Amino acid sequence: MTETNNIIPSAEVSSRGNEQFRKVRRRLVEQFSKQAVSTGDPVRDAAARQSIEQEIPHTLRAQDASLPEAMRTELLSAVINELFGFGPIQPLLDDPTVTEVMVNRADRVYVERNGKTARTPITFDDDDHVNRIIDRILQPLGKRLDASNPLVDARLPDGSRVNVVIPPVAIAGPCITIRKFSRSRLGMDDLVRFGTLTPQVAGFLKACVQAHLNIVVCGGTGSGKTTLLNILSGCIGADERIVTIEDAAELKLNQDHVITLEAKRASDAGGEVTIRELVRNALRMRPERIVVGECRGAESLDMLQAMNTGHDGSLTTLHANSPRDAISRIETMALMAGIDFPVRVIREQIGSAIHLLVHQARMRDGSRKITHITEIAGMEGDKVLMQDLFRFKEIPTAAGATVQGCLQPMGLRPQFMHKFEAAGLVVPPETFSPNAVARQRSAAA
Ligand SMILES: Nc1ncnc2c1ncn2[C@@H]1O[C@H](COP(=O)(O)OP(=O)(O)O)[C@@H](O)[C@H]1O
Ligand SMILES: [Mg+2]
Repeated sequence: MTETNNIIPSAEVSSRGNEQFRKVRRRLVEQFSKQAVSTGDPVRDAAARQSIEQEIPHTLRAQDASLPEAMRTELLSAVINELFGFGPIQPLLDDPTVTEVMVNRADRVYVERNGKTARTPITFDDDDHVNRIIDRILQPLGKRLDASNPLVDARLPDGSRVNVVIPPVAIAGPCITIRKFSRSRLGMDDLVRFGTLTPQVAGFLKACVQAHLNIVVCGGTGSGKTTLLNILSGCIGADERIVTIEDAAELKLNQDHVITLEAKRASDAGGEVTIRELVRNALRMRPERIVVGECRGAESLDMLQAMNTGHDGSLTTLHANSPRDAISRIETMALMAGIDFPVRVIREQIGSAIHLLVHQARMRDGSRKITHITEIAGMEGDKVLMQDLFRFKEIPTAAGATVQGCLQPMGLRPQFMHKFEAAGLVVPPETFSPNAVARQRSAAA
């Protein structure tokens, strides 16, 4: 990440006023910490918190009467956050416009808002302070973290994902990354409103899911793959049995007939259970749909085989820079399964298993766009044949302006049209016609 001019210099952050603030905060935390220890009984804990909330203003009036009123109010919430929350970053976690909180080190805290990363004026006192908050985060989850085990991945009770790295691996001090669980899940309508896709493409994708196509959503980190996978999974019929498989359960489906499986690391109690084992196991659960959060390794081969053996309508995501890159990554990952298949055989499996790739990107203005919808049209020689059905066409704008453009049809009808008919779905032929889109746009203008 490049650091820009709007960074607050640390000298300004630890101004004299702040030093005093910290001193008083530390004193109060020490004073009340015994009272704040959890008893394990939520009712008693809530009562303890309430009484501390009432006592702090009294203590402040008695001991720090010279402090300005505004600072005393701030101190109250800072102390409560230290005693009961995640300290300095608690306000960020409570802020619904923040989607990600990143502590790079004690004096550098960043957030993501509206897809954009920015530094905040928030700081921790020192590494020990960060470590105390890390303990607060991990202890209730039963996760261990020490020099011999310096990486931890965990999920908070509210569904947010946390990653912690400490020295010696993290050279500049302990790091925390929290991907907040968004309470208001985005829906297909939101994506249309944001310009991630057009209403026509939304209808097309919905029909693709309902017609049991095997779909892979690809793109970079944070491009919105999981979000789109969740929305696509939401288009699956209520009467179908769905098995979801993830590293950390993020998907949230509204259907009733859903089984949620989550991989397990070896460092937890007992042995490891991999995504691959879960995919294989899912095949024995009589699934009508298998949804895999992300393919990262050997499970790709099992996924291809599942798609090729009658589990049509499976969905997954993977990290890739383009649809073509996605194909070569699936190939590489499938080879990781260690089965001695020639590359050609794997390619043939890809060619017959996957129907559609949806590629999404995080644009320079922070917006997310579907940039390609690509059909896998079988094989040509030993090459997987791909054709773009839709592509994002950008309209040039001034540097720094928001990204303008439209996801346009390329004028090709997919080879799987018959699957729509077989499923009794109507996808208007204009969906694929660039002229129809141009006509609509000029009519709307
Ligand atoms: N189409 C979209 N437009 C705007 N924001 C989005 C869109 N899709 C996802 N997001 C936001 O982007 C962030 C990353 O999304 P996520 O689906 O987890 O990405 P990925 O799985 O590719 O890493 C989330 O905060 C999410 O709310
Ligand atoms: Mg994801």
